[in-house]
Amino acid sequence: MLEIQVTRAGQGKPHPDPDTLVFGKLFTDHMFLMDYHAGQGWHSPRIVPYGPFSLDPSCMVFHYAQEVFEGLKAYRTPEGKVQLFRPVENARRLNSSCDRLCIPQIPEEDFVQAVKALVQIDRDWVPDKKGTSLYIRPFIFATDPSLGVHASHSYRFAIILSPVGAYYPEGINPVKIYVEDEDVRAVRGGTGYTKCGGNYAASIRAGERAEAQGYSQVLWLDGVHRKYIEEVGAMNVLFKVDGTVITPALTGSVLPGITRKSCLELLRDWGVAVEERLITAQELFDAADAGKLEEAWGSGTAAVVSPIGELAMGGRKAILNNGKIGPLTQRLYDTLTGIQWGTEPDPHGWTVPVE
Ligand SMILES: Cc1ncc(COP(=O)(O)O)c(C=O)c1O
Repeated sequence: MLEIQVTRAGQGKPHPDPDTLVFGKLFTDHMFLMDYHAGQGWHSPRIVPYGPFSLDPSCMVFHYAQEVFEGLKAYRTPEGKVQLFRPVENARRLNSSCDRLCIPQIPEEDFVQAVKALVQIDRDWVPDKKGTSLYIRPFIFATDPSLGVHASHSYRFAIILSPVGAYYPEGINPVKIYVEDEDVRAVRGGTGYTKCGGNYAASIRAGERAEAQGYSQVLWLDGVHRKYIEEVGAMNVLFKVDGTVITPALTGSVLPGITRKSCLELLRDWGVAVEERLITAQELFDAADAGKLEEAWGSGTAAVVSPIGELAMGGRKAILNNGKIGPLTQRLYDTLTGIQWGTEPDPHGWTVPVE
């Protein structure tokens, strides 16, 4: 159990109009901080007014990117309560990322306690308009003020909060996806299964290229054979082919998404056949040609599910479900958002109240 010191912000910032919220631009009044020093362990957990850090220019994270992060949300229920969705899963994934990046882990219960304490202090910032939420960004970075590639001896763990607007204010519109055949995001043995900043830096160029060509995201292929599907943008990806839902297996270069896991658990509850396995882009386009690629969607905390309306690779194009959201994608969206915002029963006990 952490003993969190609290220093309250004087006058809070004005709260924004929920209709004008843009993802990740505005932050709440407070942040959580905790430091690590070799020999001392994690210490000084505190909530302080939100503000800039002062860091030495030689700080290791700037040069060697020894950094990991997480992303989850707090939701306002119709009764005005605030709840989290599967925060222990984020704690576990953070620790798995830490292990790969040689960053000291944080006990799961301390992570959840810190998230809850910060959200509790800034609970007025959890918007209540339909589809809005409070995005929670925990992150850890290396702070040793020295050059040289080795594990840092000091780290900072921070959590910041940002109110976000509805992801689909005008209804769910399927997106156009481009299969990226040049850049790769991650390779097995690398850091693809972790949430470290370097993975995202490596993904930016392909994303920019896809956007310039009128596509919203890229579909990533594996880095060795360049034929197996991995993820879509910063989401996991699921396909319904001839009645079976297929999603890439977690082979090490795919991020184990919590929304992906929740989709698979719901689908199994509903008796839908599910396969986690290798799947080639070729197989998908062939299924589309045979009229068997019924639905496809990305899954992630931000969008929950993002239906795919069109897939393009080289000269090949596949239009899915006439460019409309499919019934299974819609059912997953309705069920997951219902659980998250507290309008549907939560039989798995996925939600955690913020006291
Ligand atoms: C690369 C990547 N894949 C998948 C996901 C989906 O994970 P989750 O469902 O836990 O949000 C994310 C982000 O959140 C991501 O950044």
